[in-house]
Amino acid sequence: MIPATRSRVLNRLPSASLLAHVSSKLGRMPCQRFLSTAWLKDSARLTAPPTISRAMSTVKAGVMPDVVSKPLKADLDPSKLTITLTKTPKSPPPPEQLGFGAVMSDHMLVCEYNPESGWSAPSIQPYAPISLDPACAIFHYTPSVFEGMKAFVGPDGKPRLFRPDLNMARMERSTDRVSLPHFDKDALLVLIKKLVAVDAHWIPPMRGYSMYIRPTLIGTRASLSVASSTSALLYVILSPSGPYFPTGFKPISLISMWDTARTWPGGTGAYKLGINYTPCFKPQEEAYSKGYQQILWLLGDERRITEAGQMNFFAVVQRDDGDIDLITPPLDGTILPGVTRSSVLSLASSHSPTSPLPGLPPTQRIHAHERTITISELQAHHARGALLEAFGVGTAAIICPIDRIGYEGVDMVMPVNEGLGKVGKAMWDEIVAIQEGLKPSEWSVTCE
Ligand code: COI
Repeated sequence: MIPATRSRVLNRLPSASLLAHVSSKLGRMPCQRFLSTAWLKDSARLTAPPTISRAMSTVKAGVMPDVVSKPLKADLDPSKLTITLTKTPKSPPPPEQLGFGAVMSDHMLVCEYNPESGWSAPSIQPYAPISLDPACAIFHYTPSVFEGMKAFVGPDGKPRLFRPDLNMARMERSTDRVSLPHFDKDALLVLIKKLVAVDAHWIPPMRGYSMYIRPTLIGTRASLSVASSTSALLYVILSPSGPYFPTGFKPISLISMWDTARTWPGGTGAYKLGINYTPCFKPQEEAYSKGYQQILWLLGDERRITEAGQMNFFAVVQRDDGDIDLITPPLDGTILPGVTRSSVLSLASSHSPTSPLPGLPPTQRIHAHERTITISELQAHHARGALLEAFGVGTAAIICPIDRIGYEGVDMVMPVNEGLGKVGKAMWDEIVAIQEGLKPSEWSVTCE
């Protein structure tokens, strides 16, 4: 269900054909307002409706003819998959030793795109280094798209994925944004399921642990000329993982930053691209040196909150009438349309006396809002004791409590008692139960 605030926004949006028409009349890049509203319509659904993709291509084609995508010679074809198993299988480490992203499983999926022949036959092969020409685009202009997904084992012993269609749709949008060769996203999902099935014994059998899946697409055109990469390498690797942060499943601290931006209107924050992350490394070091673990990214003169480190941000605010507001910044083009973000919003809207979330009073009313929230508003809620919880959400961290937010030399301290607050805990419990197949849901799909 689309929350009321969001559906009102959607109803006011111009149609895709109108956008294309206006931009062709203007004879130049459509202004940011048009781009971001078209994008919002697209991403609010978290899938890319064909009409919108076509309209966006039309807009781009009229403006930048050098990046018009060419038809694929051959698309990704799971029926051509070859599987070569490793002769030297490793033993998965004990789950309790796992952090995030440091250990890789035995196999990877690889497929190459060549402009003359299209996508090659996909291959599941032993995990190994890849060899690339040093002139490849990825090493210079860094066309790099990735996704973060997870595999779990259900009580039936079958590997499962969580809402993988949303990851595939987002990857398709990210791919288009950096003009890398397109691919059939349903075919990629079939191939990912096969890879996960091959390395299913690497999924850590421990609550809250999982096998992180990293689909990656990079530009491999071997040329220093500045243009979209006409060849590409698509690969998927698997990493059995525990808690995302080295401190474990504990609350984290954030320092607010506004003089450096993670993303900006007209930028690429709404896409999962490697280039969004690198510029954050130095500010991240600064945060550490000041005694905070992550950054609360603020944007604009009004210092609106955008994201928390690499996660979407949520605030839980007590209302005077006893209800609770759950607030997250809107998908305005600067925010990553996270799968966990979307799931938290849906779960909040579904909480009711007949279908309560775990641990929450059935009669507790929760109002989910996708709206701008500034740091001053957050401070005001905190000052009157109404800021009940703040948490970051993402595939890797799931729901991560925030216990301290530094802003202009003063800390807002959250009452988290070493763990998640009631709403964050309810979300974590519900999402993990679905992910691990303990609670039946169409969000959880088996790798068969
Ligand atoms: C995720 O939650 O999957 C992320 O994108 C965070 C990071 C590992 C890039």
